[in-house]
Order: sequence, then C-alpha cells, then structure tokens
Amino acid sequence: MLDDTFPEKLETNSNETQLQAREKLLHLFKNNNLPAEELMTSLGLFIRGSALVKYLVLNDLYTRILKTPGTIIEFGTCWGQNLILFENLRAIYEPFNKTRKIVGFDTFTGYPVGDDNDKNGDVFKEGNYKLEDDYEDFLKDLLNTHVECNVLGNNKSIHEVIKGDVSETVREYFQNNPSELISLAYFDMGLYKPTKVALEEVLKHTVPGSIILLDQLTWSDAPGEALAFKEVFKDVKYEIEISKFTPMRSIITLL
Ligand SMILES: C[S@@+](CC[C@H](N)C(=O)[O-])C[C@H]1O[C@@H](n2cnc3c(N)ncnc32)[C@H](O)[C@@H]1O
Repeated sequence: MLDDTFPEKLETNSNETQLQAREKLLHLFKNNNLPAEELMTSLGLFIRGSALVKYLVLNDLYTRILKTPGTIIEFGTCWGQNLILFENLRAIYEPFNKTRKIVGFDTFTGYPVGDDNDKNGDVFKEGNYKLEDDYEDFLKDLLNTHVECNVLGNNKSIHEVIKGDVSETVREYFQNNPSELISLAYFDMGLYKPTKVALEEVLKHTVPGSIILLDQLTWSDAPGEALAFKEVFKDVKYEIEISKFTPMRSIITLL
C-alpha cells in the first residue's frame, strides 16, 4: 500500500484537483464493500488511466516479441507487477511456449547512490523504493502462484527474481546463462551506472527484432538513463519510437 512518502507520489505530474481525486479513489478503494474474490476480478473499478496505460504498453511490447525467441527481463522490478503481467500475457498469447523465461532484477532495498551522471532529486534519493524485508520471496511466491493459475502452467524454475545491485548482479547472471537470448529488456532503474552495465550485457544476447524499453529516456529528472543509452548505442543499429500509449516510454527495436 502506498504511504505518504512512497516515491510514486513524488513522480506525479498531476495538479491539485487530480491529486484530490486520487485520494478520493484511494478512499473508495479502501472502503469498498465488494467480497474479496469479486474485488480481485473487478480491479478495473479502481484503476486509473495512468495505471491502465502501463498494461497497454506491456501488451504492445509482448505482441512485438511473439516471433522473437528469448527471455523477457526487467531491470528495476520494484513490486513486480510487470513480471506478473508478463507471465499472464505469456499464458494468453503463447501458452505452449514454455521457454519464455521471465526474469526481474531489483535491489529491493531501493535506489543505491547515483553518480555524477544522475540528478539527486527527491525521487532518486538513496533507499527510495525500499520494500519490506523478504519482499522478493513474496514476489517469487506470487509469480509461481500465477504460473499455477494459468492454463498449461509453466515450469516454475523458468522465472527468476534476482536481488542486488544490477551493476553487479547482471554480469553474474549472464555468466551463469551464457547461451541465453533476450527478446525484451525493460529498463526502469533510471540511474546511469546500472543502466549502462545492463545495456552492455543485454546487447551481447539480443537478436534482430529484440526490444529494449526505456522507461525514462525523456525524463529530465533521470538523465542517467539517456546518457547510458547514448553511450552504449553509439554504434548499434536500431529503430526508436515513442510508445503510442505514453510519450514517457521509448521502444527500441534492434535491427
Ligand atoms: C521506478 S521503480 C520500478 C517500477 C517498476 N518497474 C514498475 O513499473 O512497477 C525503480 C526501481 O529500480 C530499482 N533500482 C534502482 N537502481 C537499481 C540498481 N542499481 N540495481 C537494482 N535495482 C535498482 C529500485 O530499487 C526501484 O525498485
């Protein structure tokens, strides 16, 4: 549950009226009297457009990689909603594809310290997005449970949640999985160093048609992502477009 200090509030572009409406929606959500099972299948009652956009973006990304082999990987999973949505999109679009691994990386202790390439504003303060201890175990349990719910459930071991600073964990991951291909890499850390290291590593495992999603390429509060991208992609052949659902997200297709 969001509290008053959770960073998502710091990232908002909403005006005062919109923020008040959000508060009211939260109040209605907390005080709804739907039975729990009905609530789980009726979350559309409370989802705001700005959150629905995230689902639409993921759906768009998934449909782009249907003909591309390889793992879906997210850097900066936080609560892990994207991993769960990817698992459910897998079950919808390619229930027979039991090779579509889904992997998420996060410190789960929030942002590490940035460097001179990052802006140390309110959002990127050290420890922001810190989740409760052992959150990654809850997320793994949730992911496995969704796999079990899905028709033609997958082999549980095919999905991974990796805790630690991506600047260190991503190299080890690919050392342990040297043959792995990456079909889709979703970048949402915002900081220069881990984004640069992960982009370099991911590029060694992509194929033509692989997709890189940059969540913060055009956000001036997070210059590190764009700086890392420009350096790593200097000699790479790619196409880039803004997501049709939100100008905040940029989709790169490798040629
Ligand atoms: C904006 S949140 C991610 C939100 C998530 N992708 C979503 O859509 O719900 C950014 C996340 O990046 C993580 N992060 C930032 N730097 C990191 C690093 N060096 N290694 C691992 N995770 C990092 C933070 O812990 C935080 O959870």
